[in-house]
Amino acid sequence: MARTGVTESIPQTRIAYLRGSLEESDLADGPVATLRRWLADAEGEKVHEPYAMTLATVGKDGAPTTRIVLLREFDESGLVFFTNYESKKGLDLAHEPRVAASFFWPELERQVRVIGRASKVSRETTVAYFATRPRESQLGAWASPQSRGLIARGELESRLAEFERKFAGQEVPAPGHWGGYRIVPVGFEFWQGRQSRLHDRLTFNREADGPWRLTRLAP
Ligand SMILES: Cc1cc2nc3c(=O)[nH]c(=O)nc-3n(C[C@H](O)[C@H](O)[C@H](O)COP(=O)(O)O)c2cc1C
Repeated sequence: MARTGVTESIPQTRIAYLRGSLEESDLADGPVATLRRWLADAEGEKVHEPYAMTLATVGKDGAPTTRIVLLREFDESGLVFFTNYESKKGLDLAHEPRVAASFFWPELERQVRVIGRASKVSRETTVAYFATRPRESQLGAWASPQSRGLIARGELESRLAEFERKFAGQEVPAPGHWGGYRIVPVGFEFWQGRQSRLHDRLTFNREADGPWRLTRLAP
């Protein structure tokens, strides 16, 4: 095969996906129950960071950005993650709440994609979750002006020291600029790798609060 200088250093590995298959009947309980089952499978498989999801947002200029965030809660009402509301993603979401997210668990040869609309969770939900975080993470949320430029790492460390002093001997409250978003899903795709690249792809889509419609897609 002819190779360009650019791809020469990348091994041309071909992994055969043989671990599983996906039947329509496997997903009979709907997308949220299926996601719950797949997350449990990923935990059982000792996947590193099974709850890490790639989150895509769109900026005011129309440009997409992705980054990883951790799924912290989810149920029929949506998927919740926590972040800095003044971060790049926070600013993006203030302008365009539609998001895409995906999970990849290589050990299980599975991918899940989600599309939906993100909105801030209630302050009570944020405060309750913030209280469960380790103190260092709580102080970090105060100290880090997420996504802003820093002169040097020392700036972050002196900000941390400042908040350690400020909250010495007391509980660290949740900063107003920090909290959760709930992604209310309108679409899911469950992907299971199969032999010869004939992967299984089953999608669920719905309009507003309508019923989920299941469709099989070509790989
Ligand atoms: C495994 C992993 C988990 C992460 N979890 C979060 C998270 O839950 N919330 C968060 O704000 N950033 C999290 N981050 C950091 C983000 O990927 C990102 O660097 C940060 O949120 C700033 O993104 P932004 O500038 O696009 O807003 C995580 C990164 C990794 C690699």
